[in-house]
Amino acid sequence: MTITLAAPRKILLEEKDLPTHWYNLQADLPAPLPPILHPATGQPVGPADLAPLFPMELIKQEVSRERWIEIPEPVREIYRLWRPTPLHRALGLERALRTPARIYYKWEGVSPAGSHKPNTAVAQAYYNKQEGTKRLVTETGAGQWGSALALATRLFDLECKVYMVRVSYDQKPYRRIMMETWGATVVPSPSRDTNAGRAILAAAPDSPGSLGIAISEAVEDAVMREDTKYSLGSVLSHVLMHQTVIGQEAKKQLELAGERADILVGCIGGGSNFSGFAFPFVADKLNGSARDLRIIAVEPTAAPSLTRGRYVYDFGDTAMTTPLIKMYTLGHDFIPAPIHAGGLRYHGMAPLVCALYDSGVIEAVAVHQNPTFEAAVTFARSEGFLPAPEAAHAIRVVIDEAERCRESGERKTIAFNLSGHGHFDLGAYEKYFAGSLEDYEYPAEKVRESLDRLPKVPA
Ligand SMILES: Cc1ncc(COP(=O)(O)O)c(C=O)c1O
Repeated sequence: MTITLAAPRKILLEEKDLPTHWYNLQADLPAPLPPILHPATGQPVGPADLAPLFPMELIKQEVSRERWIEIPEPVREIYRLWRPTPLHRALGLERALRTPARIYYKWEGVSPAGSHKPNTAVAQAYYNKQEGTKRLVTETGAGQWGSALALATRLFDLECKVYMVRVSYDQKPYRRIMMETWGATVVPSPSRDTNAGRAILAAAPDSPGSLGIAISEAVEDAVMREDTKYSLGSVLSHVLMHQTVIGQEAKKQLELAGERADILVGCIGGGSNFSGFAFPFVADKLNGSARDLRIIAVEPTAAPSLTRGRYVYDFGDTAMTTPLIKMYTLGHDFIPAPIHAGGLRYHGMAPLVCALYDSGVIEAVAVHQNPTFEAAVTFARSEGFLPAPEAAHAIRVVIDEAERCRESGERKTIAFNLSGHGHFDLGAYEKYFAGSLEDYEYPAEKVRESLDRLPKVPA
């Protein structure tokens, strides 16, 4: 009698396997990133310019070219609440698609906040606490980042205020209540609490808000108060670095499964979950040991910064209060349509992701929200887990690639980051089932107008 061993459905690591260091891709880039510039002088910003916003350790990490940065033990102790996270083999999805491809997903929805976002929130709260900050302020789009920071500030006994993009605030009241449960104060953005918010409300009283507007409000709040600093959930290099625990674990788990990935996929808003998952593999692509690996970033058609934006210096926020960052941008005052993947409604993109895209190391694809929800439902019905609309963008492209394998008969190994659950997004699922979700065409005219207002960068 032959015994056939069932393929494992998930590959688990033990707490002792938790990464001890974050991986800093900046050490392995062929050329350094273009510097962040001061908007008034056009000169690179120094630590003193950023000190009102961030603690010094994070400013150092932002520009560090050290390959490995040790994760402090108090941060690791909190990570161990839910990390290492499982890597699942998507056997149910493979069967549903009748594909010969082998599909794996890294499941970040098991964190207390429901996404990958606490990986950096905990680190940021820790360094702020160490350096004497009393209060952190931030923006949130989907509500996942705000929840993550509300949790992390609670664990380090800091105050927290969250400017929540108006459309999400209205769509997801329970996200707000979750943040309040952890003790945060939450206001809809644009709000009446800041000059930036009041100016936008005066011009557009029904503004749905955007991540760019909410960042302006949070930055203004932080610079106005001595006891307060600002915390960003994506885009910046140190934030992406904190997320590399995801990819380091996934690499180990794929090795345990005897797999070598052919395709990696992640959704991108500001770039943090994609980068955290992909960067440890990008290192192999850059050093030539995984030359054929394809790495695909997936963005919404309504905010397609990589696929349709311009690679230039722009503000990170709408009210032009941040330094200038070289990134693929749709223009700092471009307000994306109110799609339900609130975490992807950002006009720009992380500089590290932009540099990789510009040099052809990674690919990018834009998808509409109806096909995205169709993919989310296929996934929920075959794998059980109910994905966040942001993460469902990655699933859309995974399904497309797996279906291509069905046509070609190739047995590719596809791995993706399932960055969060969609338990607070059921209103969007309801609209999808009712057929009332809109697919917003790429707003070419609005983007062109916004790109006309890019800041002038002194030569
Ligand atoms: C579940 C989830 N995935 C992805 C994102 C997009 O952000 P990032 O590109 O930084 O991962 C968000 C943002 O809120 C999110 O909540």
